This record gives sequence, structure tokens and C-alpha cells, in this order.
Amino acid sequence: MALPGRQRLPTSPFLSLVILPFLVFLLSFAGSASAAGSAVLGLDVGTEYFKATLVKPGVPLEIVLSKDSKRKEPAAIAFKPTKESNAPFPERFYGSGALALAARYPDDVYMNLKTLLGLPFNDGNDGTVKEYWSRYPALKLESAPDGRGSVAMRTNRLGEAERKDAFLVEEILAMQLKEVKSNADLLAGKGSDVRDVVITYPAFYTAEEKKSLTMAAELAGLKIEALVSDGLAVGLNYATSRTFPSVSDGEKPEYHVVFDMGAGSTTASVLRFQSRQVKDIGKYNKTVQEINVLGAGWDKTLGGDSLNDLIVNDMVENLVESMKLKGKVTVEEVKAHGKTMSRLWKDAEKARQVLSANGDTSASFEGLFDEEVNFKYKITRVHFEKLAASHAARINGPLERALESANLKLNDIDSIILHGGAVRTPFVQKQLEKISGSSKKIRSNVNADEAAVFGAAFKGAALSPSFRVKEIRASDAASYPVILQWKSDGKDRNQKLFTATSQVGPEKQVTVKNLDDFDFSFYQQVGQDGDNLPVLSVETQNLTASVTKLKDSFGCSAANITAKFNIRLNPINGLPQVTSGNVSCEVEAEKKGIVDDVKGFFGLGSKKGDQQPLGEDEASESITLEPEVESSTTSASDASTTSATKDNGKATVQTKLEIIPIALKSTPLGTKAPSAAELGRIRGRLSAFDSSDRDRVLREEALNELESFIYRSRDLVDNEEFATAIKEGQLSTLQDKISTSSDWLYEESDNAKTADFQAKLKDLKSIVDPALKRMKESTDRPARIKLLQDMIKNAESMKQLIEGQIKSDQDTYSSALSASSTSTEQTETSSSTPAPAASGDDSLDDLDDDSYSSSSSKTSTKTAAAAKPTGPKYTLFTPTDLSSLTEIYDSSKLWVEEKLALQETLTQSDDPALTVVDIDSRLRDFERVLNRMYERMTVASKKNSSKKTKSKDKKPEAEKSKGKEKEKEKKEKAKSTDDTRKDEL
Ligand SMILES: *[C@@H]1O[C@H](CO)[C@@H](O)[C@H](O)[C@H]1NC(C)=O
Ligand SMILES: *[C@@H]1O[C@H](CO)[C@@H](O)[C@H](O)[C@H]1NC(C)=O
Repeated sequence: MALPGRQRLPTSPFLSLVILPFLVFLLSFAGSASAAGSAVLGLDVGTEYFKATLVKPGVPLEIVLSKDSKRKEPAAIAFKPTKESNAPFPERFYGSGALALAARYPDDVYMNLKTLLGLPFNDGNDGTVKEYWSRYPALKLESAPDGRGSVAMRTNRLGEAERKDAFLVEEILAMQLKEVKSNADLLAGKGSDVRDVVITYPAFYTAEEKKSLTMAAELAGLKIEALVSDGLAVGLNYATSRTFPSVSDGEKPEYHVVFDMGAGSTTASVLRFQSRQVKDIGKYNKTVQEINVLGAGWDKTLGGDSLNDLIVNDMVENLVESMKLKGKVTVEEVKAHGKTMSRLWKDAEKARQVLSANGDTSASFEGLFDEEVNFKYKITRVHFEKLAASHAARINGPLERALESANLKLNDIDSIILHGGAVRTPFVQKQLEKISGSSKKIRSNVNADEAAVFGAAFKGAALSPSFRVKEIRASDAASYPVILQWKSDGKDRNQKLFTATSQVGPEKQVTVKNLDDFDFSFYQQVGQDGDNLPVLSVETQNLTASVTKLKDSFGCSAANITAKFNIRLNPINGLPQVTSGNVSCEVEAEKKGIVDDVKGFFGLGSKKGDQQPLGEDEASESITLEPEVESSTTSASDASTTSATKDNGKATVQTKLEIIPIALKSTPLGTKAPSAAELGRIRGRLSAFDSSDRDRVLREEALNELESFIYRSRDLVDNEEFATAIKEGQLSTLQDKISTSSDWLYEESDNAKTADFQAKLKDLKSIVDPALKRMKESTDRPARIKLLQDMIKNAESMKQLIEGQIKSDQDTYSSALSASSTSTEQTETSSSTPAPAASGDDSLDDLDDDSYSSSSSKTSTKTAAAAKPTGPKYTLFTPTDLSSLTEIYDSSKLWVEEKLALQETLTQSDDPALTVVDIDSRLRDFERVLNRMYERMTVASKKNSSKKTKSKDKKPEAEKSKGKEKEKEKKEKAKSTDDTRKDEL
């Protein structure tokens, strides 16, 4: 039976109206959720530049840009005086912003601070500090307070209350690191707090320098996951994209030298690269890459800065010889002049860089040293190289020393990898080529600026549980020999525990004779003359007590007791560390019981010593101190083998090892760390400084916001539409407020606080915003109303369509019913068909689903006989659908009519009767209902097309013939639905 009404409906334009708004709204609802995760920062704290890289789950290694979008930030910070008198803190500028202020405030721009880390001040007369000071003569250096004696810096630009204490070098460096951290937080995303960091360090860093750098990082709120030498960091980056010869297959490792010449210093590191098969989980093997630092050599003062010095000196010599100044000033006088030196330094740096690519360059200065003096300076590369002749000769040094300490020859080296800013200087490369015999070995295709900082971040990712990275086992070398010092029998004793090339990480077991509590300490042997730098002191807490316990409880004798300590170079910072200590003695075991058997079975018992695994890479070394003592102690130190010997021999006595751990207390030696109180003060001042800068930014923002709002309001006052939207009489009030705010802003706001600007802004907004809102409502409303009215019209068509279909289904049903028998069905159908809005009968929900037909039959048969067939089978929509559509249709129609009538009575300056937001929410409700229906149509059309191929025997005989007709129809409809949908999408 055909449904003529259905075919007449303009199906496709109708559907398009339903779909279009659906798509639009879906897009606007799409939320943005960003995944948070633990991030790691790689940091290259250079003398001249800071570089940082970030790794974050989901984000590959990325360079952290400075606020001015540079890939590296000059290591400089400036304290710029503020306009307010006696403000507690000056304004800070970082990076190039700070450098730009160097000539104006040479006494308060701090740069290249890395040079001063870990050094004693010593009146400023010693080597590096003296040299640094001569470059920045306007700075006020002094000895750090509290007996620390390191370098501190004084500024007079703090307010009275904050001026008392000079800044430690670490404190100022911490400010800069905080800035880097804040850039990283920005990159990591809103609300991030990146703390974990891997920092690179020059191989020549002593314990003092490492501790100083660590302190700066900690003051900046960073947590050091590891320090990695510059050379190894470059090596790590080099290895991320390569595999190396396998020593498991008997291949020969690769050896490369990283030649790193930065602004402050030059270091050569010899690295060994190889791969190895190691056991993986289960029976599997895996290949890991290995990098070891075999040796390093350095020149602590050869670098870009020392080359700049040559040019500055040349400039000064030229300056004092210039016409205006000749005979009037000395070189020393110019060199003591902060402003002059600051300007010369900046241009010398520039000139040196130009000379890397050009044959000559020049610079000119106006009012240099003296207002009258205009100074022109010219230099050629040839002249520069003549000045730098002795520096060129020094280039060999680090390389030779590195090879020597690694016990290798240049012939063994596969390549020299260049890194650092100063390697671009032509004579440096020329010199390296000369040393290595050709240019073939020089590898300049590695990113000379960023390889180290990328390597540091890679190491950070490898250490973090949040990342899976290529497995590269990398270890640094000690750089300096480490000496163990202790007292025994009233005599000072020394033992070299680690050499300069010892690997960082593996433990060494040290056996000592002392059985009473004692203390020992570690020293780094720095300098050729064997200067010992104290690093760490360790005290045993209960050695005596533990020995007594061994004697009393197990009957051990002093001769059989051994004290042992496990000592390593800490993988975090490469400094010596005692990981544990114990005393032990071998005792005769009681009769072997079941417990011992079990222990033996699991390898935990008396033979433990035999099963102790040896390190995969390097057998853990055992050292017995004071080997001159009687043999009984020596054999006792070898307890594990003793028992084995006995077992192998005829002796039937079983022995076992009694072990008692010893408590240890470690105290760092060397430059005094600030006390807890002092650290608290430093942190307090740092964060007060931070909030001062933050407040300044907020104040600036509030000021700008007020200023631009005043401009905007002025324009609005002249806008006709605005004038109709503002409340009666408020226009003149607004005009008054604009002019008083404007006067205040330009004449009286110098000392105003953030809140003052905000209050003025709020005052203006209280008048302007409501009027603006009404203006916007009036503009947007008509289109929204039109949309809603269209929607209502569409719903009306949809309603008719559904009504038609339901009616047809019910007719089908009744004719099927009458074909089989008679009954009450007629009355039942009529009760559910009319006025769908009223038919809130839930049982109808079940009718449209095949699988529930049995339960639906139950409800519908309330009025019918038990054996009768089920109620009408709806082909697509049910009366419930119709009722929900009718409901929203009716209520929306009513709502829009009422509101529009109300709106008619209002003027432009009244708040609207119906807002855009209200209309939008109606629209969305409407769509939810309509879209549900649309989806149903799509599903039905899909089902139909798949049914085509399936058997149709499921249907009762009586319906079969009609079913065929209907299916054909459905297919047609579905087809048109499908087509429409494709068009819209
Ligand atoms: C793993 O390595 C060991 C020793 O190198 C070798 O004997 C064994 O066959 C290897 N196993 C596999 C599965 O390759
Ligand atoms: C000494 O200290 C260690 C570690 O605290 C402890 O395990 C051991 O039992 C102590 N020795 C004695 C005899 O108390």
C-alpha cells in the first residue's frame, strides 16, 4: 500500500536544514584537552649563552626559545633603575635586553657569570677573578658573606631595605636560570612547572664548580637529574642517530674527539663508541650502544672571550693614540672606565664574528671615553691572526692532553667533532687541520651550537620513566684523581681510589683495618702540583658498636673482622660517594639445618660470595688498604673464597659470613655552603624580586588596558547606535568620567598601583559594558530569531512526515490483523495514534525494537487476547518520537511568540526580552531531537541495503507481499537520504 503523502514531501531540502546546524554546533562544542606530563629540561649553561631543550611526553626534543624568540639567550642580566624613588627592587632585563643596557648601566649588567662559579674571591687579585673584573671594571665584586669567601656582587639599585647583602654569583645566575625555566614552562604549556633538568658542564669542573652550579640550579627551583660533561653530551647527540661496531662480534670501537671551544674555555674529550650484545628479558639478547669518556684535556682560558680581549686591547691602544686623547690618558685609565670598556667589549665581539667570514671590519664610536672623542677602529683578519698567534699555538694543548690521558694516538682517532661558538674562527680550524694532518678528520657537520644541549635533554629523557629512548649507556670520567685520606695508628694515610680517567658509576669495595669509629675524607687532585681539593668527609657512626656485636654475639676475634665500604663516583654529579659500609666475620656454622639448605639452594647462603654477580661492563674492583699488615687480615678480607677452599678441602666444617651494616654520616667539604638561615634569606629575596617584576608587569598591563579602554569609550560616545543603547542620562556621565580618567592617567598616575588602574577601568566599564551588550544583542537577535523560526517550520514538516508514516504502519497492522482474525486492535490503535503529545506511554518505547517484541506484546495485549499477534510494527518512527518532537515544537513556538510580543514593547536601551544565549540554547535542544531522528533514518537506510541480500523468510507469510513493496520504497527513501548526507558532509 503506497503512501502518497510521503512522496510529495520535499525530502532533501528539508534534511539539509536539519543537518547543517548540527555540524556547526558540533564544532563549537569540541573541547580542547591538553595532556599534562612530566617534562625534562636539558640545559647548556654557557659562558656567553644559555641554551635549553625540552622533552615532554608527546613532544619531541624541542629548543626552548627566549622571550624574543631566539634559540639561545645571551648569559646576561641587567638591573635597570626604576622611576619610583627607593623602590625595593630594580627592573630586571634578560639576554639581549640586558646587553642593550650594558653601555648605560655597566655597573649593573651581569654577564658571563659562569666564569666565576666555584672560585674564591681572594681580594679579586687572583687569575680568573682578576681577569673577569678587568673586563667589567664597573662591577662591584666582593667576598661572599658568612665565611663562604666565594665571589659576590653588590648593586646600589636596590631599595634601602634590600641593599644590605651582596648577591652571591650563584644567586644572580639563579635569576637567569629562573628565566630559562619560565620560558620552558611556557613551551610545555599552561600551568607547567618544569623542574627536572640535566645540565652540561666542562670536563675541568672541580667539585667546587659543580657544587656552585648545583646551588644556582636549586635556587632557581630546578632539580638536577644529572650533570653531563659537554663532550659526552655532544657524543650522546652524535650517537642518537648512529650505531657503532659491535665488540661482541670482535669489532674495533670507534674513537672520536669532541673539540669544544666556547666563549670561556676549550676542552677536548676523547670518546669511545661501540655496541654490545647484552642479555635482555628472558632468553633474548639486545644490542646497546656504549659511550665512554676516555680522557679529556683543556685550556680554561682559551676561548672566544680571550680572543675578544685581544681586539679590545688593540682598540684601547688605538684609542689612547687617537688625536684627541694622545698624551692625555693612559691605557690603564681607559681600562678602568666601565662605560668605555663595556662599549668596546660589545663591538670587539661583533668584529671578531665578522672576521670569521670577512677579511676586515671596522667600528666607530661617538663620545667614547670623552664626549669630544669620536673613535674609528679598523682591523683586518691578518692583523687579528697576528695578535692571536700565541692563542693559535695553545689550540694543540687540550687535544694533546686529552689523547695522552686516554692513552691513544691521533692515528687511533676516527674524527674530531667540532663544537662551540669559537670553532668557527678560521685560524682555529686551520690549526686543527694542521695538527691532524688533513681536513678529512675534522667533522664540522655536527650542530656546533646545539649538539650538547640536545644530548643533555636526551640523557634527561633516558633517566626519566616517562620516556622510552634508544638505549645508550654513557659514562663520564672522573676528570681528576680522587684520593682517600684517613688516619690509622696515628698516621695520615692516603690512597688513590680513582684516576682522572676512572669511569663514573661503578662501585669499588674498599677494605680497611680500622675497627673503631673513625672518619675519612675524599680529595680531588687538581693541578699539576697535586693540589688537593677537599670534597667530602665521612664518619662511621657505629663501627665500634658493630664490631663489639660481632665479637659478643658470634664470637669473632678482631683478626677475623673486616670493615668494608662501597665507594663510587656518584652518577648524578661524578663526585665521590660512599654508598654503604659493613663489618663482617666468618663464623663456624651450627649444624646445617633446613633453613641453610634452602638458602644455599637459592644462592643466598654461605656461598653468597661465589654468586655475587660481576658488573656487566667492569668487574667491581676490590681494594684492600694498608696491604703491609699481617696476612691474617688479608685472608680475612677474602672471606668468600675462604669458605670455598674449606669446602673443597677435606675439612667438614661449614662456615658462614656474619655481616652488620654500618651507619655513615657524610659532610661536604670545601667552600662553606650557606647556612639554612642564609639560604632562607636568599630564597626570600629572590622570590620578592620575582614578585616585584611580576607586579610591574601587571601594573603595566592594567595601565595599558585602562588607556585603550578610554580610547574606545571616546569612540563609542560618538557612535549613534551606542547612544541609543545607553540608559537615559548616562551618556554625559560617561563623557565626564572619560575626561577625568584620562587626566588622571596622564598627569597623576606615576605612583599609582595596579589596583588604582583597575578601579578606574571598572568604573568606566560599569557604564559602557551593559550598553555594549544591548547593542550587540540588538544586532545579533534578528538573525537568531529567523533561525529558530525556520527550525520550527522544519519541525512542522518533519512532524507531518512522521505522522504519515505512523498512520501507514498502523493501517498495515490492522489490515494484517483483520486478515488473520478480528479484534480489539482497532481500539488500541486509535488510542495511541492521536495527539502524540499526550501519549506519554513509556511502553511504546519498546515497540520499535525487534528484539523486544515479546515484551512489547505483553503490554499491548492488555486489551487484546493473549494469543493475538503483537501491536503495530513501526517501520521507522514511533509515537514516542512524534510526541517528543511535538513537545519541543509546541513549546518553542509558544516561547518565541510570547517573547517577541514582549520585545515589541521595549526600546534599545532596555535589556532584551529574549537574549541570543537563550535562543541558542533552544536551537540546540531542537537539534538534539531532530538529529536523533535523522540518525535513525540513516541507520534504517543502511539496514535496508544489507537486508537486500539476506533471506526474507523471517517475516510472517501474510506480510511478505506487502513487505516487498515497502522495502522497495524504503530503499528509495534511504537512497535519497544517503545522497543528501554526502552532499552536506
Ligand atoms: C645471546 O648471547 C649469548 C652470548 O653472547 C649467546 O650465546 C646466545 O646464543 C645469544 N642468544 C640469542 C637468542 O641470540
Ligand atoms: C649500625 O647502623 C646500621 C644502620 O643504621 C644498623 O643496621 C646496624 O644494626 C647498627 N649496628 C649496631 C650494632 O647497632
